[in-house]
Amino acid sequence: MTFRLNTLLLFAFALQFNSVYGEEPESGSAEPTHNVKLPKFTPYTVSNPVFWEQFTDGLEPVWKRSRAAKQGKDEDRYDGEWAVEEVQELAGIAGDKALVVKSEARHHAISARLSKPFDPALGGLVLQYEVKLQQTLNCGGAYVKLLTAPMKGEFSDATPYTIMFGPDKCGESKLHFIYRHANPITGKYTEHHLQKPPLPPTDGMSHLYTLAIYTNNTFVVSIDGTERKTGSLLEDFDPPVNPPKEIDDPEDSKPADWVDEEKIPDPDAVKPDDWDEDAPAMILDEDAVKPDGWLEDEPLMVPDPEAAKPSDWDDEEDGDWAPPMVPNPRCIDADGCGPWKRPQKRNPDYKGKWSPPLIDNPAYKGKWTPRRIANPDYFEDLAPYKLAKIDAIGFELWTMQAGITFDNIYLGDSVELANRIADDVWKPKHDSELAVLEETNPKPAQQPQSKLARLLELFTVRLEDIAASVKGFYARAQQQGIVEAVRQDHSGAIAVVMAAGGLAWLVWNILSITRYIASLGTPAAVPQPSLPADSQPERSDSAKASSSARADSSKAVNRKGKKA
Ligand SMILES: *[C@@H]1O[C@H](CO)[C@@H](O)[C@H](O)[C@H]1NC(C)=O
Repeated sequence: MTFRLNTLLLFAFALQFNSVYGEEPESGSAEPTHNVKLPKFTPYTVSNPVFWEQFTDGLEPVWKRSRAAKQGKDEDRYDGEWAVEEVQELAGIAGDKALVVKSEARHHAISARLSKPFDPALGGLVLQYEVKLQQTLNCGGAYVKLLTAPMKGEFSDATPYTIMFGPDKCGESKLHFIYRHANPITGKYTEHHLQKPPLPPTDGMSHLYTLAIYTNNTFVVSIDGTERKTGSLLEDFDPPVNPPKEIDDPEDSKPADWVDEEKIPDPDAVKPDDWDEDAPAMILDEDAVKPDGWLEDEPLMVPDPEAAKPSDWDDEEDGDWAPPMVPNPRCIDADGCGPWKRPQKRNPDYKGKWSPPLIDNPAYKGKWTPRRIANPDYFEDLAPYKLAKIDAIGFELWTMQAGITFDNIYLGDSVELANRIADDVWKPKHDSELAVLEETNPKPAQQPQSKLARLLELFTVRLEDIAASVKGFYARAQQQGIVEAVRQDHSGAIAVVMAAGGLAWLVWNILSITRYIASLGTPAAVPQPSLPADSQPERSDSAKASSSARADSSKAVNRKGKKA
């Protein structure tokens, strides 16, 4: 049983190694390898948008690359390259240009100013854009930031934003939706993160991300035109936009005479007369008798009777020769040799130190909690949709893989317009990509997926995430040093530890399989993993449960370790 499960896991691991460390996908060939006739790109006109970008005219003068230093640190400049170019991988539209992230393991920042600041308070906000991952993305962001007006200086991570929205993947993927809201009393901004954000797709197709914020404080997040999350700006964010009315009084402290000991030793209890605190824990076992076969006069070690003084031994130089000591052969079958000692045993009268029993403390006042006072920073904003005005759209990203591609960015306040763009621009592209995909990878005849296949898939997806995090962490550590890498990428560091554990586990598996083969006595025959596991439903269920538990814990790590 154990052996079969191990073989199965090993097999999953082998698959994994092949897919992670096997051949890199080729990139850069624009030659179509299929016969699908792609529709030709034609510009799409949008009437009165706040912002509409199809990248037909290159970067300048709308888009401005940032050369700022990240967090003011010179070694962390935004030196990643950007390009406006035709899509190379799985193009759906002929001659369709897009904005492409060009450098691996670099910070990238680019922004475009709006012709005038946009005020979401007037009629809500609708943001929509396409993301296409031309290379497999293991670690990198693909989110957009709407930069708060007035935008000052070069765009960097320090530039205030009003909304951050879009996919992000480093190990775990998620779709960020963060808004920054100003406390009307202190003016201080706080980031509010959407709770339980949806999972973005990670394939190489063009995907459409839409965020709509309405003047009734509700929002809708859609992927490819399908609603994926709806809710309220007032309720579904962490921390909530409105702070608590009351807080613990920071001035209040526990009175010196407060009694918070719930139990005390009974003051009336007395030590029983027969309680001997001095009785030892162990005593000699008086019932023990020396075994008959104990040879009291025989030493444990004796001089080796067969040893002879070497012929080249020089008593002058080497000292007196003495034979080496060996275990006394007479003791081998005896019960023991040398002086016999009476063994010790547990003392039945041992009680140890007496202590009085615990009773309820009559002076107990309960757990102390500070007084509650009105929160001096309290406010109630019932219209958080009236977000800070927006001056520019920006991408500020770190990525381990190049080829992240953005297109058809719409900003405005019309859901109808966004839907029309989805139907007229994204949908035909999507359909064409699907046709190309179908032609290049004909689908195998649909087979019902076995429990084992699903299980393997679960394992490989998790392992892929871990391998991606390890690779990302390694690259970061090379660039920034191990300490900085651990500081910036907790989930990566944890993945390294998990991978090390996994490796140990792998070695252990190989050892146990080797042992198994050896026990068969036919070292030449390597057993094939036995696949049909449908006969053991309980096992795959529990394996699934542990795999999803791991996914949950790594999610928690991700949340904590993530820089916004
Ligand atoms: C909020 O407004 C939007 C757009 O007008 C509407 O579709 C939605 O149903 C409203 N939600 C609530 C809870 O009123």
